[in-house]
Amino acid sequence: MEHHQKTVTVQELRSGMIIREIIELSFDYATLDPKTVQFLQSNFKGANAVVVKEAGRESVPIGEVQPFDHVEAITDIPSTLKIATVAPGLAASMEKRGFLAFKVSVPAGVKLEEAEAPQAPAVKLDKEAAKAQHVERVTEAKEFLDKMETASESRDEASNRVKDMLDQGRSGNFSTQAAESAVADLIQEGTTAAMKAVAGLKGSDQTYTHCVDMSVIFQEAYADILIRSGKEATEEVNRFNLIAGFMHDIGKSEVPKEILESTERFAPDSKEMLMLRNHTTYGAKIMSEMGMHKAQINVAHYHHVKKDTKLFTSYPEVSYDEVLPLTRLASVTDVYQALIGKRRYKRNWVPAKAVEYLLKLGDSEFDPRMLDHFVRSVGVYPVGTLLRLSTEELAFVVRIAPDDRSDRPVAVVVENAKGELLTSNQLIDLMIEEDISIKEIVDHYEHYNETENQSYEIFRSIKLG
Ligand SMILES: [Fe+2]
Ligand SMILES: [Fe+2]
Repeated sequence: MEHHQKTVTVQELRSGMIIREIIELSFDYATLDPKTVQFLQSNFKGANAVVVKEAGRESVPIGEVQPFDHVEAITDIPSTLKIATVAPGLAASMEKRGFLAFKVSVPAGVKLEEAEAPQAPAVKLDKEAAKAQHVERVTEAKEFLDKMETASESRDEASNRVKDMLDQGRSGNFSTQAAESAVADLIQEGTTAAMKAVAGLKGSDQTYTHCVDMSVIFQEAYADILIRSGKEATEEVNRFNLIAGFMHDIGKSEVPKEILESTERFAPDSKEMLMLRNHTTYGAKIMSEMGMHKAQINVAHYHHVKKDTKLFTSYPEVSYDEVLPLTRLASVTDVYQALIGKRRYKRNWVPAKAVEYLLKLGDSEFDPRMLDHFVRSVGVYPVGTLLRLSTEELAFVVRIAPDDRSDRPVAVVVENAKGELLTSNQLIDLMIEEDISIKEIVDHYEHYNETENQSYEIFRSIKLG
């Protein structure tokens, strides 16, 4: 039987086509969770997987795929597999599974059907549903507010652990123990979401705090991607990503402390800058000696590689293909944290301004898909953003807006229209309060500057009336 082969996207799959290869997979195939491994192995018996290894791509039988592997393609799919022949409904389930582009063959004589009817647009939420969601949003916001204090303590503790880890590293004792126990605590306390808010309210330019903040924001962003694609963010995956984040700058242990802790801004071609830049290569070396996972090593090695690798800020020199999706997400997170964290030689940005800036850097610096994932995760108005509402009141965001209504977060009023701080606070869900809108983002560091952490203190003291 004569076949002709072609490349199609998931939307272009038609009944009767036979799938030969899956050539584009969604982000979460970059670090497989055990359930996805099972799924692949039971549905693609006899096929091969292209797995990204440190030394390059390798084609392996699907049965040899391991959790946390990065699968880039599935090839040699036996045409006898049920999943290989496109039947009605298959395209939708393929898309849901994160299979995005295919090599297919069309058997001679098979007449392709017309496109499957596009899915009906999501029904507009009825009032009941909006109310139900409102209750959920408010409950979550309250739970999160209760965790602020613990989160701030966890952040300090974790920063100390990272400091210990780097100090031990300086004397040649590298171990993951400090990172692992810090991560175990965070997972047990469930404080990562609240820590993300602390990061935006209490900037810090310390390397150690940077690693902690970056790590929790990164893990939360990754977990969000999984949840959005209908998967579970397991503890195992969260732990893996938190450790990758904690250790992404471990190579800084090879950079002299005076340089690391200096408040000076080094010239681009200075020897100090060169030493700082080498932290990526050092880090990768240290982590491979420790026997860490290749995806975690990739994060340490390539988190400063930009999409446009010719940019001066991009290092080390390497093709962007070598930068794994996990690392690309880490890279967006790293820049975001640097913006919201720095205090001494550059003033720090409030989270919403940092998001605006990331979007401006856009395509030259980042993988657009990762940037998009990241912004959806932190929100256009991240938690901890101070807003001036159309009522002239000031309110802190306590829960981000839904994707399709990015200007409708849940906020808590902390200051009335007369500029008086309130002692009892009202919670406003902008999804419900349709008449109220956001007037502008207020820089909370500028606005609350009586003490160093005044904005954090105000946020932490929110008392819902
Ligand atoms: Fe770095
Ligand atoms: Fe970093």
